Amino acid sequence: MKITVVGAGAVGASCAEYIAIKNFASEVVLLDIKENYAEGKAMDLMQTASLNHFDTRIIGSTNDYAKTKNSNIAVITSGIPRKPGMTREELIGINAGIVKEVSKNLIQHSPEVIIIIVSNPMDTMTYLTHKITGLPKNRIIGMGGALDSARFKYRLSEALGCPASDVSGMVIGGHSDKGMVPLIRLATRNSVNVSEFLSKERLEKVKQDTKVGGATLTSMLGTSAWYAPGAAVSSLVHAISCDQKKIFPCSVMLDGEYGLHDLTIGVPVVLGKHGVEKIMEIELSEEEKAQLLNSAEAVKKTNNTLAEMNLF
Ligand code: 2OP
Repeated sequence: MKITVVGAGAVGASCAEYIAIKNFASEVVLLDIKENYAEGKAMDLMQTASLNHFDTRIIGSTNDYAKTKNSNIAVITSGIPRKPGMTREELIGINAGIVKEVSKNLIQHSPEVIIIIVSNPMDTMTYLTHKITGLPKNRIIGMGGALDSARFKYRLSEALGCPASDVSGMVIGGHSDKGMVPLIRLATRNSVNVSEFLSKERLEKVKQDTKVGGATLTSMLGTSAWYAPGAAVSSLVHAISCDQKKIFPCSVMLDGEYGLHDLTIGVPVVLGKHGVEKIMEIELSEEEKAQLLNSAEAVKKTNNTLAEMNLF
């Protein structure tokens, strides 16, 4: 398996590190536009190989897409992260042009590649990648829901006083502070519904803390988070590389599922060697349906900005 990670900033480098540590890929190409930056990160990471016991080869590249040739999976983390007080949507002006350029370069050298989008606003950047590349919809995946679900499980485990590994839960909808839909109704602690342990008020707090998970960290760190985003992407890459058929909520192109058309938004999907192998249409309550539709409206509104920017 050859994996390319575009953008050697904190998220890209964490993602490359987690992929390497999990030891399932033969090669990771880390690419960045900043001269020698990706090469430096790759060398630093390679010097952890004997300590962390991995055999994955990590190669750095300064914007030379020839090195990414025949990648099986590519992750796009390029663009600017948000600063405290900013929404993800505010990044569209700079990031859309970058994601367009990167996705075109990637498919030129790897026509069979499966692309995972991390750059924000993530749902809209995923939509843009569809429009630019014209790749089949199983091969373009936005990663937000995997990250938001990990943050949801963290908040649930905090409230329950148990390890996150004992918790199961999922966040669907857009990867935005207002658009996320944490599915409290379905969350469990080892198969027991979380409502057996936590009051309505405590669960509402879990929900709100989850939705602002990225913003909370941005205000603490001065820039957006990287460990959980990197780990979330590496889990998606792992599931595809090893044909795991695991379910993750991911931003994928909908064609009538959940009554939605021509937009990418987070819904549960099965990931395997073909990328998105199945979109799961789970039964939602009326309230959850309404929240998903609201979220879809907001994503569509952001997508409309792309048309005004004449990007495709
Ligand atoms: C976050 O929520 C990177 O959007 C990302 O941290």
